Amino acid sequence: MDFFLPPISLPDIMATRQAVRVRLSRRMSQDLNICNSSFKIDGPLALPEDEVQLWRVDLEAIRSEESRWQKILSPDEAKRASRFHFSADRQRFVAARALLRIILASYLNLDPSDLRFSYSKKEKPSLAPNHAASGITFNLSHSGGIALYAFARGRDLGVDVEQVRRDIDVEPIASRFFSAHEQQQLSKFPPAERVDFFFRCWTRKEAYIKATGDGLSLPLSQFDVSLAAGGTNALAATRPDASEAERWLLSEVPAGPGYIAAVCVRGRDWKLNTWSANPPAELP
Ligand SMILES: CC(C)(COP(=O)(O)OP(=O)(O)OC[C@H]1O[C@@H](n2cnc3c(N)ncnc32)[C@H](O)[C@@H]1OP(=O)(O)O)[C@@H](O)C(=O)NCCC(=O)NCCS
Repeated sequence: MDFFLPPISLPDIMATRQAVRVRLSRRMSQDLNICNSSFKIDGPLALPEDEVQLWRVDLEAIRSEESRWQKILSPDEAKRASRFHFSADRQRFVAARALLRIILASYLNLDPSDLRFSYSKKEKPSLAPNHAASGITFNLSHSGGIALYAFARGRDLGVDVEQVRRDIDVEPIASRFFSAHEQQQLSKFPPAERVDFFFRCWTRKEAYIKATGDGLSLPLSQFDVSLAAGGTNALAATRPDASEAERWLLSEVPAGPGYIAAVCVRGRDWKLNTWSANPPAELP
Protein backbone atom coordinates (compact mmCIF):
# COMPACT_ATOMS: atom_id res chain seq x y z
CA MET A 1 0.00 0.00 0.00
CA ASP A 2 1.36 3.41 -0.90
CA PHE A 3 0.39 6.35 1.19
CA PHE A 4 0.50 9.97 0.17
CA LEU A 5 -0.93 13.14 1.51
CA PRO A 6 -3.40 14.60 -0.93
CA PRO A 7 -3.47 18.40 -1.02
CA ILE A 8 -5.41 19.52 2.06
CA SER A 9 -7.39 22.65 1.41
CA LEU A 10 -8.98 23.17 4.82
CA PRO A 11 -6.96 25.78 6.69
CA ASP A 12 -7.81 24.44 10.13
CA ILE A 13 -6.28 21.05 9.42
CA MET A 14 -3.00 22.41 8.06
CA ALA A 15 -1.55 22.17 11.54
CA THR A 16 -1.79 18.38 11.46
CA ARG A 17 0.27 17.92 8.28
CA GLN A 18 3.64 17.80 9.96
CA ALA A 19 2.49 15.12 12.39
CA VAL A 20 1.12 13.06 9.53
CA ARG A 21 4.36 13.32 7.57
CA VAL A 22 6.34 12.03 10.52
CA ARG A 23 4.14 9.00 10.87
CA LEU A 24 4.08 8.38 7.13
CA SER A 25 7.82 8.46 6.80
CA ARG A 26 8.05 5.89 9.58
CA ARG A 27 5.58 3.68 7.78
CA MET A 28 7.29 4.07 4.40
CA SER A 29 9.94 1.59 5.51
CA GLN A 30 7.29 -1.11 5.20
CA ASP A 31 6.15 -2.68 1.93
CA LEU A 32 2.98 -0.66 1.62
CA ASN A 33 2.16 -1.01 -2.07
CA ILE A 34 -1.50 -1.98 -2.17
CA CYS A 35 -0.96 -3.82 -5.49
CA ASN A 36 1.82 -5.97 -4.07
CA SER A 37 0.60 -9.42 -3.01
CA SER A 38 2.76 -9.28 0.14
CA PHE A 39 1.29 -5.98 1.25
CA LYS A 40 0.21 -5.61 4.85
CA ILE A 41 0.06 -2.87 7.46
CA ASP A 42 2.04 -3.62 10.59
CA GLY A 43 -0.12 -2.59 13.53
CA PRO A 44 -0.89 -1.11 15.78
CA LEU A 45 -1.59 2.18 14.02
CA ALA A 46 -2.06 5.10 16.39
CA LEU A 47 -5.51 6.67 16.60
CA PRO A 48 -5.37 9.54 19.13
CA GLU A 49 -8.65 10.56 20.74
CA ASP A 50 -8.52 14.06 19.27
CA GLU A 51 -8.13 12.80 15.69
CA VAL A 52 -10.45 11.66 12.95
CA GLN A 53 -8.50 9.65 10.41
CA LEU A 54 -9.77 9.62 6.87
CA TRP A 55 -8.59 6.99 4.38
CA ARG A 56 -9.12 7.14 0.64
CA VAL A 57 -8.79 3.78 -1.13
CA ASP A 58 -8.73 3.29 -4.89
CA LEU A 59 -11.07 0.29 -5.18
CA GLU A 60 -10.88 0.28 -8.95
CA ALA A 61 -7.16 -0.50 -8.80
CA ILE A 62 -7.58 -3.50 -6.52
CA ARG A 63 -11.01 -4.98 -7.20
CA SER A 64 -9.79 -7.55 -9.76
CA GLU A 65 -7.87 -9.37 -7.01
CA GLU A 66 -11.16 -10.61 -5.64
CA SER A 67 -9.99 -14.00 -4.36
CA ARG A 68 -7.31 -12.31 -2.27
CA TRP A 69 -9.85 -10.03 -0.59
CA GLN A 70 -12.54 -12.73 -0.30
CA LYS A 71 -10.31 -14.73 2.07
CA ILE A 72 -10.60 -11.93 4.64
CA LEU A 73 -14.39 -11.68 4.61
CA SER A 74 -16.80 -13.33 7.06
CA PRO A 75 -19.39 -15.86 5.74
CA ASP A 76 -22.20 -13.28 5.97
CA GLU A 77 -20.15 -10.75 4.00
CA ALA A 78 -19.33 -13.38 1.36
CA LYS A 79 -23.03 -14.23 1.15
CA ARG A 80 -23.90 -10.57 0.69
CA ALA A 81 -21.23 -10.26 -2.01
CA SER A 82 -22.74 -13.20 -3.90
CA ARG A 83 -26.04 -11.31 -4.27
CA PHE A 84 -24.61 -8.55 -6.49
CA HIS A 85 -25.84 -8.83 -10.05
CA PHE A 86 -22.80 -7.24 -11.72
CA SER A 87 -19.33 -8.62 -11.05
CA ALA A 88 -17.78 -5.12 -10.91
CA ASP A 89 -20.17 -4.16 -8.08
CA ARG A 90 -19.42 -7.39 -6.25
CA GLN A 91 -15.67 -6.88 -6.62
CA ARG A 92 -15.86 -3.31 -5.31
CA PHE A 93 -17.93 -4.43 -2.30
CA VAL A 94 -15.49 -7.27 -1.54
CA ALA A 95 -12.45 -4.98 -1.85
CA ALA A 96 -14.12 -2.25 0.25
CA ARG A 97 -14.98 -4.68 3.06
CA ALA A 98 -11.54 -6.27 2.98
CA LEU A 99 -9.82 -2.89 3.23
CA LEU A 100 -12.17 -1.88 6.05
CA ARG A 101 -11.09 -5.00 7.91
CA ILE A 102 -7.40 -4.47 7.13
CA ILE A 103 -7.38 -0.87 8.36
CA LEU A 104 -9.47 -1.59 11.48
CA ALA A 105 -7.28 -4.59 12.28
CA SER A 106 -4.22 -2.33 12.09
CA TYR A 107 -5.66 -0.02 14.73
CA LEU A 108 -6.66 -2.98 16.91
CA ASN A 109 -3.56 -5.08 16.23
CA LEU A 110 -5.70 -8.05 15.24
CA ASP A 111 -6.00 -10.33 12.25
CA PRO A 112 -8.44 -8.75 9.73
CA SER A 113 -10.57 -11.91 9.52
CA ASP A 114 -10.96 -12.00 13.34
CA LEU A 115 -12.95 -8.76 13.40
CA ARG A 116 -16.66 -8.95 14.18
CA PHE A 117 -19.24 -6.31 13.30
CA SER A 118 -22.61 -5.39 14.77
CA TYR A 119 -25.38 -3.64 12.84
CA SER A 120 -27.93 -1.15 14.15
CA LYS A 121 -31.61 -1.44 13.25
CA LYS A 122 -30.88 1.02 10.44
CA GLU A 123 -27.94 -1.18 9.37
CA LYS A 124 -25.12 1.10 10.44
CA PRO A 125 -22.10 -1.14 11.02
CA SER A 126 -19.92 -0.84 14.12
CA LEU A 127 -17.35 -2.99 15.89
CA ALA A 128 -18.96 -5.86 17.82
CA PRO A 129 -19.08 -5.64 21.65
CA ASN A 130 -15.98 -7.84 22.02
CA HIS A 131 -13.92 -4.97 20.48
CA ALA A 132 -15.75 -2.26 22.47
CA ALA A 133 -12.83 -1.52 24.79
CA SER A 134 -11.01 0.13 21.89
CA GLY A 135 -13.79 2.72 21.54
CA ILE A 136 -13.08 2.82 17.79
CA THR A 137 -15.90 4.09 15.62
CA PHE A 138 -15.95 4.13 11.83
CA ASN A 139 -18.04 4.80 8.79
CA LEU A 140 -17.48 4.33 5.08
CA SER A 141 -18.79 5.44 1.75
CA HIS A 142 -18.14 4.39 -1.82
CA SER A 143 -18.76 6.06 -5.13
CA GLY A 144 -17.29 5.61 -8.59
CA GLY A 145 -14.03 3.75 -8.10
CA ILE A 146 -13.13 4.87 -4.60
CA ALA A 147 -14.00 4.31 -0.96
CA LEU A 148 -13.61 6.78 1.88
CA TYR A 149 -13.31 5.50 5.44
CA ALA A 150 -13.43 7.63 8.59
CA PHE A 151 -12.14 6.36 11.95
CA ALA A 152 -12.23 7.90 15.43
CA ARG A 153 -12.31 6.91 19.09
CA GLY A 154 -15.49 7.32 21.11
CA ARG A 155 -17.23 9.61 18.60
CA ASP A 156 -20.20 8.97 16.36
CA LEU A 157 -19.33 9.85 12.80
CA GLY A 158 -20.51 9.59 9.23
CA VAL A 159 -18.80 10.04 5.88
CA ASP A 160 -20.11 10.42 2.37
CA VAL A 161 -18.38 10.66 -0.99
CA GLU A 162 -19.93 11.17 -4.40
CA GLN A 163 -18.42 11.12 -7.83
CA VAL A 164 -19.52 14.37 -9.44
CA ARG A 165 -21.78 13.55 -12.39
CA ARG A 166 -22.49 16.31 -14.86
CA ASP A 167 -25.21 14.41 -16.74
CA ILE A 168 -27.94 14.91 -14.15
CA ASP A 169 -30.65 17.52 -13.83
CA VAL A 170 -30.08 18.69 -10.28
CA GLU A 171 -33.16 20.89 -9.75
CA PRO A 172 -35.81 18.13 -9.50
CA ILE A 173 -33.60 16.11 -7.13
CA ALA A 174 -32.88 19.18 -5.01
CA SER A 175 -36.56 20.08 -4.77
CA ARG A 176 -37.32 16.55 -3.57
CA PHE A 177 -34.48 16.08 -1.04
CA PHE A 178 -33.13 19.48 0.02
CA SER A 179 -34.62 21.84 2.60
CA ALA A 180 -36.15 25.14 1.48
CA HIS A 181 -33.06 27.00 2.74
CA GLU A 182 -30.72 24.70 0.78
CA GLN A 183 -32.77 25.04 -2.41
CA GLN A 184 -32.63 28.79 -2.03
CA GLN A 185 -28.84 28.72 -1.62
CA LEU A 186 -28.45 26.46 -4.65
CA SER A 187 -30.53 28.72 -6.87
CA LYS A 188 -28.16 31.63 -6.21
CA PHE A 189 -25.25 29.94 -7.98
CA PRO A 190 -24.84 30.31 -11.74
CA PRO A 191 -26.33 27.26 -13.53
CA ALA A 192 -22.88 26.10 -14.70
CA GLU A 193 -21.66 25.85 -11.09
CA ARG A 194 -24.78 24.27 -9.62
CA VAL A 195 -23.72 20.65 -10.06
CA ASP A 196 -20.73 21.06 -7.74
CA PHE A 197 -22.85 22.81 -5.11
CA PHE A 198 -25.56 20.19 -5.49
CA PHE A 199 -23.05 17.45 -4.63
CA ARG A 200 -21.67 19.54 -1.75
CA CYS A 201 -25.15 19.73 -0.30
CA TRP A 202 -25.86 16.04 -0.95
CA THR A 203 -22.67 14.72 0.65
CA ARG A 204 -23.10 16.98 3.68
CA LYS A 205 -26.66 15.84 4.24
CA GLU A 206 -25.67 12.20 3.83
CA ALA A 207 -22.68 12.56 6.19
CA TYR A 208 -25.00 13.90 8.89
CA ILE A 209 -27.70 11.22 8.53
CA LYS A 210 -24.96 8.58 8.49
CA ALA A 211 -23.33 10.07 11.61
CA THR A 212 -26.58 9.91 13.55
CA GLY A 213 -27.14 6.43 12.09
CA ASP A 214 -30.71 7.33 11.17
CA GLY A 215 -30.20 7.11 7.43
CA LEU A 216 -33.21 8.27 5.49
CA SER A 217 -35.54 7.75 8.46
CA LEU A 218 -34.38 11.25 9.51
CA PRO A 219 -36.46 13.72 7.48
CA LEU A 220 -34.07 15.62 5.24
CA SER A 221 -36.10 18.82 5.70
CA GLN A 222 -35.33 18.85 9.45
CA PHE A 223 -31.84 20.27 9.03
CA ASP A 224 -29.96 22.71 6.82
CA VAL A 225 -26.39 22.46 5.61
CA SER A 226 -24.39 25.31 4.17
CA LEU A 227 -23.23 24.94 0.58
CA ALA A 228 -20.09 27.08 0.83
CA ALA A 229 -17.06 25.46 -0.81
CA GLY A 230 -14.63 23.97 1.71
CA GLY A 231 -17.10 24.44 4.57
CA THR A 232 -15.72 23.35 7.93
CA ASN A 233 -18.78 24.02 10.08
CA ALA A 234 -21.51 23.20 7.61
CA LEU A 235 -24.37 21.98 9.81
CA ALA A 236 -26.24 25.29 9.70
CA ALA A 237 -29.48 24.42 11.54
CA THR A 238 -31.34 21.49 13.10
CA ARG A 239 -35.06 21.29 13.92
CA PRO A 240 -36.87 20.98 16.27
CA ASP A 241 -33.82 20.95 18.58
CA ALA A 242 -31.63 23.88 17.46
CA SER A 243 -28.86 22.92 19.91
CA GLU A 244 -28.31 19.63 18.05
CA ALA A 245 -26.34 21.53 15.38
CA GLU A 246 -23.75 22.56 17.99
CA ARG A 247 -23.02 18.96 18.95
CA TRP A 248 -21.51 18.09 15.56
CA LEU A 249 -18.82 19.32 13.21
CA LEU A 250 -19.67 18.78 9.56
CA SER A 251 -16.82 19.46 7.14
CA GLU A 252 -16.00 19.08 3.50
CA VAL A 253 -12.99 16.78 3.15
CA PRO A 254 -10.62 16.13 0.23
CA ALA A 255 -11.51 13.10 -1.89
CA GLY A 256 -9.51 13.66 -5.09
CA PRO A 257 -10.36 15.09 -8.51
CA GLY A 258 -13.91 14.42 -9.66
CA TYR A 259 -15.20 13.64 -6.15
CA ILE A 260 -16.82 15.67 -3.37
CA ALA A 261 -16.99 14.39 0.20
CA ALA A 262 -17.97 15.37 3.72
CA VAL A 263 -17.45 14.01 7.19
CA CYS A 264 -19.68 14.67 10.20
CA VAL A 265 -18.33 13.97 13.68
CA ARG A 266 -19.82 14.37 17.16
CA GLY A 267 -17.90 16.99 19.14
CA ARG A 268 -15.68 19.79 17.95
CA ASP A 269 -12.40 19.00 19.68
CA TRP A 270 -10.85 16.94 16.90
CA LYS A 271 -8.61 17.41 13.91
CA LEU A 272 -8.51 15.61 10.61
CA ASN A 273 -5.70 13.36 9.48
CA THR A 274 -5.78 11.96 5.95
CA TRP A 275 -4.31 8.81 4.41
CA SER A 276 -4.63 7.33 0.94
CA ALA A 277 -4.10 3.89 -0.50
CA ASN A 278 -3.46 3.91 -4.22
CA PRO A 279 -1.41 2.12 -6.85
CA PRO A 280 2.09 3.60 -7.32
CA ALA A 281 1.10 5.21 -10.65
CA GLU A 282 -1.13 7.65 -8.79
CA LEU A 283 1.58 8.89 -6.49
CA PRO A 284 2.39 12.56 -7.12
C1 LIG B 1 -26.57 4.50 4.36
C2 LIG B 1 -27.32 5.48 3.49
C3 LIG B 1 -27.81 6.63 4.31
C4 LIG B 1 -26.33 6.02 2.50
O1 LIG B 1 -26.07 5.11 1.50
P1 LIG B 1 -25.37 5.48 0.13
O2 LIG B 1 -25.08 6.93 0.01
O3 LIG B 1 -26.19 4.86 -0.91
O4 LIG B 1 -24.02 4.66 0.22
P2 LIG B 1 -22.59 4.99 0.86
O5 LIG B 1 -21.62 4.32 -0.01
O6 LIG B 1 -22.37 6.43 1.15
O7 LIG B 1 -22.65 4.27 2.28
C5 LIG B 1 -22.89 2.92 2.39
C6 LIG B 1 -22.23 2.42 3.66
O8 LIG B 1 -22.77 3.12 4.79
C7 LIG B 1 -22.83 2.21 5.89
N1 LIG B 1 -24.21 2.27 6.40
C8 LIG B 1 -25.26 1.47 6.14
N2 LIG B 1 -26.34 1.90 6.82
C9 LIG B 1 -25.96 2.98 7.52
C10 LIG B 1 -26.64 3.85 8.41
N3 LIG B 1 -27.93 3.71 8.75
N4 LIG B 1 -25.94 4.88 8.97
C11 LIG B 1 -24.64 5.05 8.65
N5 LIG B 1 -23.94 4.25 7.81
C12 LIG B 1 -24.61 3.22 7.26
C13 LIG B 1 -22.42 0.85 5.40
O9 LIG B 1 -21.10 0.61 5.80
C14 LIG B 1 -22.49 0.98 3.89
O10 LIG B 1 -21.46 0.28 3.23
P3 LIG B 1 -21.57 -1.29 2.94
O11 LIG B 1 -22.96 -1.50 2.46
O12 LIG B 1 -20.52 -1.57 1.94
O13 LIG B 1 -21.31 -1.91 4.23
C15 LIG B 1 -28.47 4.73 2.84
O14 LIG B 1 -29.22 4.16 3.84
C16 LIG B 1 -29.49 5.50 2.05
O15 LIG B 1 -30.64 5.38 2.31
N6 LIG B 1 -29.17 6.30 1.07
C17 LIG B 1 -30.18 7.04 0.29
C18 LIG B 1 -29.57 8.10 -0.51
C19 LIG B 1 -30.41 9.38 -0.53
O16 LIG B 1 -31.50 9.40 -1.06
N7 LIG B 1 -29.88 10.47 0.07
C20 LIG B 1 -30.48 11.77 0.08
C21 LIG B 1 -29.43 12.79 0.53
S1 LIG B 1 -29.88 14.44 0.21
